[in-house]
Amino acid sequence: MNQFTLNQFLLSLVLLSLPSLSSISLPIPNGTQLVGTSLLYEDATLRVWNFTLPPGESTSLHTHMHDYTFVAIKPSQLEVYEENGERLFDFRAEGVLKFEVEGDFLVPVGVELPFDVPRTHRAVNIGEEEYWEMLWEDKTTGIKEEKRVEL
Ligand SMILES: *[C@@H]1O[C@H](CO)[C@@H](O)[C@H](O)[C@H]1NC(C)=O
Ligand SMILES: *[C@@H]1O[C@H](CO)[C@@H](O)[C@H](O)[C@H]1NC(C)=O
Repeated sequence: MNQFTLNQFLLSLVLLSLPSLSSISLPIPNGTQLVGTSLLYEDATLRVWNFTLPPGESTSLHTHMHDYTFVAIKPSQLEVYEENGERLFDFRAEGVLKFEVEGDFLVPVGVELPFDVPRTHRAVNIGEEEYWEMLWEDKTTGIKEEKRVEL
């Protein structure tokens, strides 16, 4: 990640931790894929999401349109399912992970994963505690907005 986006990201983390801002979220525009629970910030190049998943619960099925990075603030074990409902794998969501959109798949940056991650998936928190991450999408990458509208 370059210095500019890293700084933006770190700033978002600081903002996120301020109690006075803890309930700020934006309306989610029509057609936006729900890659997080609430939208905290959006501009032409960046979307920042708060993402929480109680134990035993699943996200909705969603498609990643852009490269994204997330920071697991409260790590957990997540189980990933593909579009047709098939269980793919589970993994420990912790630390910082970045994925780039490549065709129908997401390619991790800087690490090797023992499995392929399809761009369209849902995740279940199979840990004992709430999972919490902050996720940030780079809107300058991945699938173009025009194409997204057709989906
Ligand atoms: C993000 O989610 C966490 C965990 O549910 C919550 O405590 C926090 O207030 C949320 N922050 C924002 C900015 O929505
Ligand atoms: C959002 O999508 C719904 C369902 O497709 C549609 O009925 C509604 O008019 C859309 N709203 C806007 C503001 O585009």
